[in-house]
Amino acid sequence: MTETTGGPPPPGCAPPRLSAQELVAAQAQTLAAPRRDYSLAAKVLFTSLDVFYGKTRTLSKFKVLELVARVPYQAWEQAAYIAVTHVHERTGLARRIHERIAESRAQQDNEQWHLLIIDELIDQHGIGEGRLRFFWLPQVIALVYYQVSWLTFVVRPAWSYRLNADFEDHAEHEYASFVAEHPEWEIVEFVSQFTADYGQYACLADVLRQIGHDERVHKQESEAQLAQPRFH
Ligand SMILES: [Fe+2]
Ligand SMILES: [Fe+2]
Repeated sequence: MTETTGGPPPPGCAPPRLSAQELVAAQAQTLAAPRRDYSLAAKVLFTSLDVFYGKTRTLSKFKVLELVARVPYQAWEQAAYIAVTHVHERTGLARRIHERIAESRAQQDNEQWHLLIIDELIDQHGIGEGRLRFFWLPQVIALVYYQVSWLTFVVRPAWSYRLNADFEDHAEHEYASFVAEHPEWEIVEFVSQFTADYGQYACLADVLRQIGHDERVHKQESEAQLAQPRFH
């Protein structure tokens, strides 16, 4: 069993895998915790998602969240690689930027497993989705969000980290509430082609709690970067 560290893992590591008992405790902790004081940009994003996809928590809405969640990490990774192009002769600095790249890559991969698992669940549950609202519109939102993440990261990295911390905090709370709203998922078996990549869980509720905990770790990582937002 993976040990819980209670804080963000080192750069380039996936978030820790929790036991069933730890997952239940983590969910309760999230439900009891206040949300972050969201920035205006984050509020605009969350309200837009509610307008487009409704306030009710659904697997289809979480798919959109996961598609968008990968985007800041892609933007940061790209910006950091460009930074290395400019400063590679300062090897100490380049090495430290590389650590940020490794962290962004690990976060991106983690979000990608979330996305694929939610996609698989939508398929397993036979949920029908309109192509325009659930395929094309999320692509547009992700594209806009990429530009915002990249631009803010270049102009003032703290803005980008804060927006992402808000996004991850929102996701963490939404997953905790989503699982609480579906007690029937405590006895639904988690059957997936991604268990080798993401782990084996006793039930559907547990894998969604694990995803929610990953979002907490992502939030903590962005909050840690907020303390020293610029490459130095
Ligand atoms: Fe996620
Ligand atoms: Fe996340």
